[in-house]
Amino acid sequence: MAFQRLLPLVALLGLFVAPPSSAVPSLHPVVLVPGNTCNQLEARLTDEYEPPPATGCRVPRQGWGWFRLWENFTALQEDPSLFLNVCMEGLVEALERVGYREGENLFGAPYDFRYAPAAPGLASPAFSGFSSSLRHLMERASQRNGNKPVVLVTHSLGGLFDTVFLDQTPLRWRRRVYGRTPLVITRDRNYSAEDMAEYLTAAGFSEDEVARYRTRALPVTLNLRAPLVPMTAMNGIGVPTVDKLVFWDGNFSGKPQLVNGDGDGQINLETVLALQRLVGADPDQPYFKSILIPNTTHKGMISDESALKRVVSEILGASS
Ligand SMILES: *[C@@H]1O[C@H](CO)[C@@H](O)[C@H](O)[C@H]1NC(C)=O
Ligand SMILES: *[C@@H]1O[C@H](CO)[C@@H](O)[C@H](O)[C@H]1NC(C)=O
Ligand SMILES: *[C@@H]1O[C@H](CO)[C@@H](O)[C@H](O)[C@H]1NC(C)=O
Ligand SMILES: *[C@@H]1O[C@H](CO)[C@@H](O)[C@H](O)[C@H]1NC(C)=O
Repeated sequence: MAFQRLLPLVALLGLFVAPPSSAVPSLHPVVLVPGNTCNQLEARLTDEYEPPPATGCRVPRQGWGWFRLWENFTALQEDPSLFLNVCMEGLVEALERVGYREGENLFGAPYDFRYAPAAPGLASPAFSGFSSSLRHLMERASQRNGNKPVVLVTHSLGGLFDTVFLDQTPLRWRRRVYGRTPLVITRDRNYSAEDMAEYLTAAGFSEDEVARYRTRALPVTLNLRAPLVPMTAMNGIGVPTVDKLVFWDGNFSGKPQLVNGDGDGQINLETVLALQRLVGADPDQPYFKSILIPNTTHKGMISDESALKRVVSEILGASS
């Protein structure tokens, strides 16, 4: 399996080749860390591949070459535009219009979303590689731009990667460069965020998988801290967003009934407010602003014209 994580962003940034002198010199360099929808996976079948029985699998045999993995391959073949995920293209164009130039003061830092950061002390070579590349990229971006602090612009999962990355860098480097609410409801028992390991067990995950969640993934979330460098969080609200799953009869194989709350269609408002409390309450956090943009979806945040205007205006604000 080959991972083409660089492809979409490189393709997208590659479109904007500009003469070297055209970047506006007063701007702080920007490094974009995209969400996981910017990642693409390609697969190739080897001789060991045993086709599944004809029934029960809608995916036709793909032959021997590389092919794009997609949740619905038929739909992908019928509509080639699906190859183009919503990525940061609109944001790149908006930044270009105010004087940003790729490779000069505008950079991208894609990553392999399959390798999540691990809890402190546990090996996670892929994430460590990403961290060290991002660190070098930021240093180079700063050097190329009169040692100005770098503005990290993240979307979605990129925000988590970025927060963990920053938490693992020495504070001096960072500054130099720049409940119990039920989530799953059944008749007999409710599961809140704190019961997630028990929920995973009940939902059929193996002991080993649950142990990995408990020791590798959970501590990353529990260790999230304010980044201690100036931060602006922008989130869409006003879009129905799943808040709770109801498996009333406790059969986790069936389809749950979804209960919506407020949010951006993917991230609920509760999560945004939790971030606000976490970062806002830290006395060592130098500057923190949370902007809620009404009627804006998770993807709309980096593609709607009005939302992009706000994002670019915040980036320019950081440069002034
Ligand atoms: C996959 O896409 C095809 C074509 O758009 C559609 O007819 C089919 O129902 C989809 N299958 C699933 C499982 O979503
Ligand atoms: C689960 O949560 C729902 C909604 O908050 C509540 O009405 C119900 O009593 C709870 N059930 C159990 C078993 O705790
Ligand atoms: C659980 O749901 C699945 C899918 O709807 C169904 O096939 C299965 O029979 C159900 N199991 C029980 C114990 O009801
Ligand atoms: C929300 O966005 C939709 C789609 O862009 C638009 O049709 C609608 O008028 C908007 N509603 C509000 C209250 O702004």
